[in-house]
Amino acid sequence: MKLLIDEKDRKYLTDREEFHTGLGVVKIVENAQKVTSHLGHDFSVLKPRLIDLYEKLPRSGSVLLKRDIGFILAYTSVGTGDIVVDAGTGSACLAMFLANIVQPTGKVFTYEIREKFAEIARKNIENAGLQEFIEIKMKDITQGIDEEEVDLVTLDLPEPWLVVQHAYKALKHGGFIMSYSPYIEQAKKTVDSLKEASFRGIKTYEVFEREMEISNKGVRPSTRMYGHSAYLTFARKY
Ligand SMILES: C[S@@+](CC[C@H](N)C(=O)[O-])C[C@H]1O[C@@H](n2cnc3c(N)ncnc32)[C@H](O)[C@@H]1O
Repeated sequence: MKLLIDEKDRKYLTDREEFHTGLGVVKIVENAQKVTSHLGHDFSVLKPRLIDLYEKLPRSGSVLLKRDIGFILAYTSVGTGDIVVDAGTGSACLAMFLANIVQPTGKVFTYEIREKFAEIARKNIENAGLQEFIEIKMKDITQGIDEEEVDLVTLDLPEPWLVVQHAYKALKHGGFIMSYSPYIEQAKKTVDSLKEASFRGIKTYEVFEREMEISNKGVRPSTRMYGHSAYLTFARKY
Protein backbone atom coordinates (compact mmCIF):
# COMPACT_ATOMS: atom_id res chain seq x y z
CA MET A 1 0.00 0.00 0.00
CA LYS A 2 1.28 3.48 -0.89
CA LEU A 3 0.11 6.96 0.06
CA LEU A 4 0.20 9.56 -2.72
CA ILE A 5 -0.08 13.25 -1.83
CA ASP A 6 -0.72 15.75 -4.62
CA GLU A 7 0.29 19.42 -4.93
CA LYS A 8 -2.78 20.49 -2.92
CA ASP A 9 -2.09 17.99 -0.10
CA ARG A 10 -4.93 15.71 -1.20
CA LYS A 11 -4.23 12.12 -0.24
CA TYR A 12 -4.78 8.88 -2.20
CA LEU A 13 -4.18 5.33 -1.02
CA THR A 14 -3.36 2.66 -3.56
CA ASP A 15 -1.82 -0.77 -3.89
CA ARG A 16 -1.68 -0.53 -7.72
CA GLU A 17 1.41 0.12 -9.81
CA GLU A 18 -0.54 2.52 -12.02
CA PHE A 19 -2.98 4.91 -10.39
CA HIS A 20 -5.50 7.18 -12.16
CA THR A 21 -6.23 10.59 -10.62
CA GLY A 22 -7.88 13.81 -11.84
CA LEU A 23 -4.31 15.11 -12.26
CA GLY A 24 -3.30 12.31 -14.60
CA VAL A 25 -1.99 8.76 -14.49
CA VAL A 26 0.72 8.06 -11.95
CA LYS A 27 3.16 5.16 -12.30
CA ILE A 28 4.51 4.14 -8.92
CA VAL A 29 8.17 3.23 -9.15
CA GLU A 30 9.65 1.08 -6.34
CA ASN A 31 11.39 3.23 -3.68
CA ALA A 32 10.54 6.51 -5.46
CA GLN A 33 9.73 9.37 -3.06
CA LYS A 34 8.31 11.60 -5.82
CA VAL A 35 6.54 10.77 -9.07
CA THR A 36 5.12 12.92 -11.87
CA SER A 37 1.82 12.12 -13.57
CA HIS A 38 1.56 11.96 -17.38
CA LEU A 39 0.01 15.46 -17.19
CA GLY A 40 3.07 16.83 -15.37
CA HIS A 41 1.71 17.02 -11.81
CA ASP A 42 3.97 16.03 -8.90
CA PHE A 43 3.00 13.53 -6.20
CA SER A 44 4.88 12.60 -3.03
CA VAL A 45 4.94 8.84 -2.37
CA LEU A 46 4.93 7.68 1.26
CA LYS A 47 4.52 4.48 3.20
CA PRO A 48 1.17 5.11 4.92
CA ARG A 49 1.06 5.30 8.69
CA LEU A 50 -2.00 4.23 10.64
CA ILE A 51 -3.42 7.77 10.65
CA ASP A 52 -3.36 7.82 6.81
CA LEU A 53 -5.30 4.56 6.66
CA TYR A 54 -7.71 5.80 9.36
CA GLU A 55 -8.60 8.85 7.26
CA LYS A 56 -9.37 6.75 4.18
CA LEU A 57 -10.59 3.37 5.40
CA PRO A 58 -14.04 1.95 4.58
CA ARG A 59 -16.36 2.35 7.59
CA SER A 60 -19.31 0.28 8.74
CA GLY A 61 -20.70 3.10 10.91
CA SER A 62 -19.45 5.82 13.20
CA VAL A 63 -15.84 5.54 14.36
CA LEU A 64 -13.93 7.17 17.18
CA LEU A 65 -12.40 10.55 16.41
CA LYS A 66 -8.64 11.14 16.74
CA ARG A 67 -9.13 13.44 19.71
CA ASP A 68 -10.99 10.70 21.62
CA ILE A 69 -8.55 7.95 20.60
CA GLY A 70 -5.60 10.07 21.73
CA PHE A 71 -7.27 10.80 25.06
CA ILE A 72 -7.97 7.09 25.65
CA LEU A 73 -4.37 6.10 24.86
CA ALA A 74 -2.96 8.74 27.22
CA TYR A 75 -5.48 8.27 30.03
CA THR A 76 -5.03 4.51 30.24
CA SER A 77 -1.32 4.60 29.27
CA VAL A 78 -1.84 1.36 27.35
CA GLY A 79 1.56 0.06 26.28
CA THR A 80 3.61 -2.65 24.61
CA GLY A 81 2.73 -6.13 25.83
CA ASP A 82 -0.71 -5.19 27.17
CA ILE A 83 -3.78 -7.38 26.66
CA VAL A 84 -6.82 -5.37 25.59
CA VAL A 85 -10.45 -6.41 25.21
CA ASP A 86 -12.46 -4.14 22.87
CA ALA A 87 -16.15 -4.15 21.82
CA GLY A 88 -17.76 -3.66 19.39
CA THR A 89 -15.23 -3.93 16.63
CA GLY A 90 -17.14 -1.78 14.10
CA SER A 91 -14.56 -0.68 11.51
CA ALA A 92 -11.77 -1.57 13.98
CA CYS A 93 -10.48 2.00 14.19
CA LEU A 94 -9.97 1.96 17.95
CA ALA A 95 -8.78 -1.68 17.87
CA MET A 96 -6.09 -0.76 15.32
CA PHE A 97 -4.74 2.19 17.30
CA LEU A 98 -4.64 -0.03 20.38
CA ALA A 99 -2.86 -2.83 18.49
CA ASN A 100 -0.39 -0.33 17.05
CA ILE A 101 0.69 0.39 20.62
CA VAL A 102 0.51 -3.05 22.29
CA GLN A 103 2.43 -4.81 19.49
CA PRO A 104 4.63 -6.81 19.13
CA THR A 105 4.11 -8.67 22.43
CA GLY A 106 0.57 -7.58 23.33
CA LYS A 107 -2.79 -8.35 21.75
CA VAL A 108 -6.23 -6.84 21.18
CA PHE A 109 -9.27 -9.15 21.38
CA THR A 110 -12.17 -7.34 19.76
CA TYR A 111 -15.77 -8.63 20.02
CA GLU A 112 -18.35 -8.12 17.27
CA ILE A 113 -21.85 -9.49 16.67
CA ARG A 114 -22.34 -8.52 13.00
CA GLU A 115 -20.41 -10.60 10.45
CA LYS A 116 -20.76 -7.86 7.79
CA PHE A 117 -18.98 -5.35 10.05
CA ALA A 118 -16.34 -7.92 11.02
CA GLU A 119 -15.61 -8.43 7.31
CA ILE A 120 -14.91 -4.72 6.80
CA ALA A 121 -12.83 -4.66 9.99
CA ARG A 122 -10.77 -7.67 8.84
CA LYS A 123 -9.85 -5.90 5.58
CA ASN A 124 -8.92 -2.70 7.41
CA ILE A 125 -6.75 -4.63 9.86
CA GLU A 126 -4.99 -6.50 7.03
CA ASN A 127 -4.35 -3.27 5.11
CA ALA A 128 -2.75 -1.88 8.25
CA GLY A 129 -0.63 -5.04 8.65
CA LEU A 130 -1.94 -5.54 12.19
CA GLN A 131 -3.60 -8.96 11.79
CA GLU A 132 -1.04 -10.65 14.05
CA PHE A 133 -1.99 -8.38 16.95
CA ILE A 134 -5.81 -8.29 16.68
CA GLU A 135 -8.23 -11.18 17.03
CA ILE A 136 -11.83 -10.53 16.03
CA LYS A 137 -14.20 -12.66 18.10
CA MET A 138 -17.72 -13.19 16.78
CA LYS A 139 -19.38 -13.03 20.16
CA ASP A 140 -21.88 -10.91 22.09
CA ILE A 141 -19.71 -9.41 24.81
CA THR A 142 -22.71 -9.01 27.13
CA GLN A 143 -22.55 -12.83 27.43
CA GLY A 144 -19.08 -12.69 28.98
CA ILE A 145 -15.38 -12.03 28.37
CA ASP A 146 -13.15 -15.07 27.73
CA GLU A 147 -9.81 -13.37 28.50
CA GLU A 148 -8.27 -13.06 31.96
CA GLU A 149 -5.69 -10.71 33.51
CA VAL A 150 -6.63 -8.02 31.00
CA ASP A 151 -4.94 -4.58 31.15
CA LEU A 152 -7.70 -2.57 29.46
CA VAL A 153 -11.33 -3.02 28.38
CA THR A 154 -12.70 -0.53 25.83
CA LEU A 155 -16.43 -0.38 25.09
CA ASP A 156 -18.18 1.35 22.19
CA LEU A 157 -21.62 -0.24 22.05
CA PRO A 158 -25.18 0.78 22.94
CA GLU A 159 -25.48 -0.88 26.39
CA PRO A 160 -22.03 -0.86 28.02
CA TRP A 161 -23.51 -1.33 31.51
CA LEU A 162 -24.30 -4.94 30.53
CA VAL A 163 -20.55 -5.59 30.20
CA VAL A 164 -19.29 -3.90 33.37
CA GLN A 165 -19.46 -6.98 35.66
CA HIS A 166 -17.71 -9.14 33.02
CA ALA A 167 -15.03 -6.46 32.62
CA TYR A 168 -14.39 -6.35 36.38
CA LYS A 169 -13.85 -10.11 36.40
CA ALA A 170 -11.56 -10.04 33.34
CA LEU A 171 -9.38 -7.09 34.38
CA LYS A 172 -6.17 -7.47 36.35
CA HIS A 173 -5.56 -5.45 39.51
CA GLY A 174 -4.89 -1.86 38.33
CA GLY A 175 -6.54 -2.42 34.93
CA PHE A 176 -8.69 0.23 33.24
CA ILE A 177 -12.12 0.23 31.64
CA MET A 178 -13.17 2.91 29.13
CA SER A 179 -16.71 3.32 27.87
CA TYR A 180 -17.57 5.59 24.92
CA SER A 181 -21.23 6.71 24.69
CA PRO A 182 -22.83 9.45 22.58
CA TYR A 183 -25.61 10.17 25.10
CA ILE A 184 -25.19 11.42 28.65
CA GLU A 185 -27.98 9.08 29.83
CA GLN A 186 -25.82 6.15 28.70
CA ALA A 187 -22.83 7.59 30.56
CA LYS A 188 -24.91 7.97 33.76
CA LYS A 189 -26.15 4.39 33.57
CA THR A 190 -22.59 3.18 32.96
CA VAL A 191 -21.28 5.14 35.96
CA ASP A 192 -24.01 3.65 38.18
CA SER A 193 -23.08 0.12 37.09
CA LEU A 194 -19.34 0.82 37.57
CA LYS A 195 -20.02 1.91 41.16
CA GLU A 196 -22.12 -1.17 41.75
CA ALA A 197 -19.32 -3.40 40.42
CA SER A 198 -16.78 -1.81 42.85
CA PHE A 199 -14.77 0.03 40.19
CA ARG A 200 -12.85 3.04 41.55
CA GLY A 201 -11.61 6.37 40.18
CA ILE A 202 -14.68 6.82 38.00
CA LYS A 203 -14.50 9.91 35.73
CA THR A 204 -16.45 11.04 32.67
CA TYR A 205 -15.06 13.48 30.06
CA GLU A 206 -15.92 15.17 26.79
CA VAL A 207 -12.93 16.07 24.63
CA PHE A 208 -12.79 19.18 22.39
CA GLU A 209 -10.54 19.92 19.44
CA ARG A 210 -10.22 23.17 17.49
CA GLU A 211 -8.00 23.67 14.46
CA MET A 212 -6.36 27.06 13.88
CA GLU A 213 -6.32 28.69 10.43
CA ILE A 214 -3.06 30.55 10.02
CA SER A 215 -2.73 32.82 6.96
CA ASN A 216 -1.32 36.22 6.02
CA LYS A 217 -4.80 37.70 6.52
CA GLY A 218 -4.76 36.64 10.16
CA VAL A 219 -5.04 33.80 12.59
CA ARG A 220 -8.34 32.42 13.84
CA PRO A 221 -9.98 29.16 14.86
CA SER A 222 -11.44 27.23 11.94
CA THR A 223 -15.11 27.99 11.31
CA ARG A 224 -15.64 24.29 10.61
CA MET A 225 -15.21 21.87 13.47
CA TYR A 226 -16.51 18.58 14.83
CA GLY A 227 -19.10 19.15 17.51
CA HIS A 228 -20.06 16.49 20.01
CA SER A 229 -18.81 12.95 19.53
CA ALA A 230 -19.28 11.11 22.82
CA TYR A 231 -18.77 11.01 26.57
CA LEU A 232 -15.78 8.98 27.70
CA THR A 233 -16.11 7.25 31.05
CA PHE A 234 -13.02 5.77 32.68
CA ALA A 235 -12.64 3.65 35.79
CA ARG A 236 -10.05 1.37 37.33
CA LYS A 237 -9.98 -1.87 39.30
CA TYR A 238 -8.08 -1.52 42.60
C1 LIG B 1 -20.00 2.25 16.83
S1 LIG B 1 -19.46 0.69 16.39
C2 LIG B 1 -17.85 0.56 17.06
C3 LIG B 1 -16.83 1.36 16.30
C4 LIG B 1 -15.42 1.06 16.68
N1 LIG B 1 -15.14 1.43 18.07
C5 LIG B 1 -14.41 1.71 15.78
O1 LIG B 1 -13.57 2.51 16.26
O2 LIG B 1 -14.43 1.44 14.56
C6 LIG B 1 -20.36 -0.37 17.47
C7 LIG B 1 -20.23 -1.85 17.10
O3 LIG B 1 -20.63 -2.63 18.23
C8 LIG B 1 -21.21 -3.82 17.76
N2 LIG B 1 -21.96 -4.38 18.89
C9 LIG B 1 -23.13 -3.92 19.41
N3 LIG B 1 -23.49 -4.66 20.48
C10 LIG B 1 -22.52 -5.60 20.66
C11 LIG B 1 -22.31 -6.65 21.60
N4 LIG B 1 -23.20 -6.88 22.57
N5 LIG B 1 -21.19 -7.42 21.50
C12 LIG B 1 -20.28 -7.18 20.49
N6 LIG B 1 -20.43 -6.20 19.58
C13 LIG B 1 -21.52 -5.41 19.65
C14 LIG B 1 -22.02 -3.35 16.57
O4 LIG B 1 -22.34 -4.40 15.69
C15 LIG B 1 -21.08 -2.30 15.95
O5 LIG B 1 -20.26 -2.87 14.97
